[in-house]
Amino acid sequence: MLFYSKKVMDHFINPRNVGEIKDADAVGEVGNPVCGDMMIFYIKVKNNRIEDVKFKTFGCGAAIAVSSMISEMVLGKTLEEVMKITNDDVAESLGGLPANKMHCSNLGADALHKAVENYYKHKKNDQE
Ligand code: FES
Repeated sequence: MLFYSKKVMDHFINPRNVGEIKDADAVGEVGNPVCGDMMIFYIKVKNNRIEDVKFKTFGCGAAIAVSSMISEMVLGKTLEEVMKITNDDVAESLGGLPANKMHCSNLGADALHKAVENYYKHKKNDQE
């Protein structure tokens, strides 16, 4: 039996920012090597801040809660602030995760960091 915090259950049952941004400025996708689950983040950036964020998670309840939580955490943040958020920060904001579900928290920050990295890459290519 797993014991999820109230916050995890809330974000799992009512995930925020689920979906896709068709004209996203960048996309970040990661897979979890432990279980094979997947997470994709779409971001819109304005004045160096996350203006909009959406995600699709093909994974367990903890992974969905992690995606939802981090999507709320990064909205309005600068790209530098987003890059500083760690997987542990997300798990902590959720009131912790059961030990055998900590690996599920590894996707959230990684996927968002990838989206930001891809954003920088595209921007650089545009300038070249
Ligand atoms: Fe795969 Fe949770 S079991 S992310």
